[in-house]
Amino acid sequence: MSGLIPQHFLDALLERTSIVEVISSRISLKRTGNTYKACCPFHKEKTPSFHVTPDKNFYHCFGCGASGDAISFIREFDNLSFNEAVEDLAKIAGMEIPRNAQELKQLQQVRITQDALELAADHYERQLGSHPLSGHAREYLQKRGLNQEVISRYRLGFAPPDRNNLAPICNPEQYQALVEAKLISTNDGRPYDLLQNRIVFPIRNPRGKTVGFGGRTLGNDKAKYINSPESPVFHKSHEIYGLYEAYQQQRQLKQLLVVEGYMDVVALAQFGIHYAVATLGTATNQDNLSTLLKHCKQLIFCFDGDAAGFNAAVKAMRNSLPLMQDGMELRFLVLPPGEDPDTLIRKEGREKFDHRVNNAKALSTFFFEVHSTGLDLSIAEHKGHLKERASADLAQIASPTIRSAMKARLYELTNAWAARNQTDWKRTRHAGFAPPPQASEDILPIQRQGVQCLCLALYYQPDKAEDYLAQLTHLNSGEFATAQGFARFLRDNRINTTGELLSHLARHSEPRKTFYTLFDGMEHIPAAHAAVAEASELLQRQIQEHRKNTLIDKQVQGTLTNAEKEELKMLSN
Ligand code: UTP
Ligand code: MN
Repeated sequence: MSGLIPQHFLDALLERTSIVEVISSRISLKRTGNTYKACCPFHKEKTPSFHVTPDKNFYHCFGCGASGDAISFIREFDNLSFNEAVEDLAKIAGMEIPRNAQELKQLQQVRITQDALELAADHYERQLGSHPLSGHAREYLQKRGLNQEVISRYRLGFAPPDRNNLAPICNPEQYQALVEAKLISTNDGRPYDLLQNRIVFPIRNPRGKTVGFGGRTLGNDKAKYINSPESPVFHKSHEIYGLYEAYQQQRQLKQLLVVEGYMDVVALAQFGIHYAVATLGTATNQDNLSTLLKHCKQLIFCFDGDAAGFNAAVKAMRNSLPLMQDGMELRFLVLPPGEDPDTLIRKEGREKFDHRVNNAKALSTFFFEVHSTGLDLSIAEHKGHLKERASADLAQIASPTIRSAMKARLYELTNAWAARNQTDWKRTRHAGFAPPPQASEDILPIQRQGVQCLCLALYYQPDKAEDYLAQLTHLNSGEFATAQGFARFLRDNRINTTGELLSHLARHSEPRKTFYTLFDGMEHIPAAHAAVAEASELLQRQIQEHRKNTLIDKQVQGTLTNAEKEELKMLSN
């Protein structure tokens, strides 16, 4: 839809908008000469490297590279879509967004639906206070231990046991919207409410607009919970229950505790844990995982202590692997049998619950626990099972750093290292080359440095030295000087195979001395194909990073072309 807002309008809007006003209404800016400075709102820092340049109408963070105009700032900061950001700014600037007829109609429809859902939320909330039959609903909530403050904060409501409670409060337009949102059905020609005799949990989007409902039965209905179905304003996999309320308590979310039930979210809030959220329905799929990660890089998944909870935890773990990037931290907490967060925090109190949360298992730990279930790793064959089970999943991990560290852990657990140690590296030691790496006790000990990773690739592929040199020169970075030296040595001595390298080092003491410590401190040696893949990934990343920095420099100087702007945007993603 963004393409439909004409560029000339965007230009005029940005012209009319004071970027300093927009940003300073959200974070505090300090003026220094012609620019303004602040600690960057998009990454953690202690000294300000976030600059706003009003003349050029843009902001730039020298720390994390975040940059853009007023639209991109409020998109990021307020979690808005492009259109929403433009709408907000246009409202402030008093400008009308020109739209074509069809688009206007769609937009209007979304607004009508949203207003109607808001009306329903208000209505349910009021019914909890005033409907003649609301007594048992209030009693129920009290029995569940919820106080008025938390009931109001989450806007809990009551759908009375009437088949037709919503229609009478609607005008025809709103009625139609609620029928489309399937809160009212009209199968037999008469209105029939989706939610009857239920506690109502309005589901709000991050801007606080009600987009759907969950309803818990107050009777013996077969369906304990009913959720409003998908609609143009309600996409279950993109909405997170409790997120808006969490933001209300904390502008910058440090962590999110992802629980299974609406009731759990509300109960935890009552105990002062304001960062609990729930996905809608039970499965944590990649869509809602991405949504969660967009809002917060630290997630703790909390699952009920039953078989279904454990299976859901495993599913969430596996779904998260392809999304794992550096800087993210996912942890897993499986509760004791028969408990959910609501029952547990009431039973053992906040402090003990906090303790559990703080000790939730890292994804890396949970991963190997899951894959070692039922195995006895003192048995050789079981090590084989573990390797077979874990390898495919490990390959899914997006971050090369995390992937490589977890692969190293697999090597440790399966003792593959000991086997390698006796084979290829034995010859290496004879040649007076690098001392063999040692296994470590730490869970994730491996931090292979970039330079070692390149040298290792060169060790396996000495004939590619020329290619590596070309790429390294392109980077023009002192960081990889050792790898450059090693590559030059291989090229100049026309060494084409690992065997030739070892025999050369056995015969010549000078290079042996120089390269003796090349692989010092490496605790896990990946196989050739893995080492080569890792090196190529590293080089690619470095080259991209280099390009990004060049472009940022140009941006700061204001000499960025449109094509380069696009490129920078892509590289920054
Ligand atoms: P639970 O059965 O664990 O419910 O379902 P709960 O939150 O502990 O509820 P209480 O404590 O019995 O009141 C967890 C989540 O699964 C979805 C709902 O989102 C619920 O919050 N669910 C469950 C349904 O959608 N339908 C159901 O029939 C049951
Ligand atoms: Mn429960």
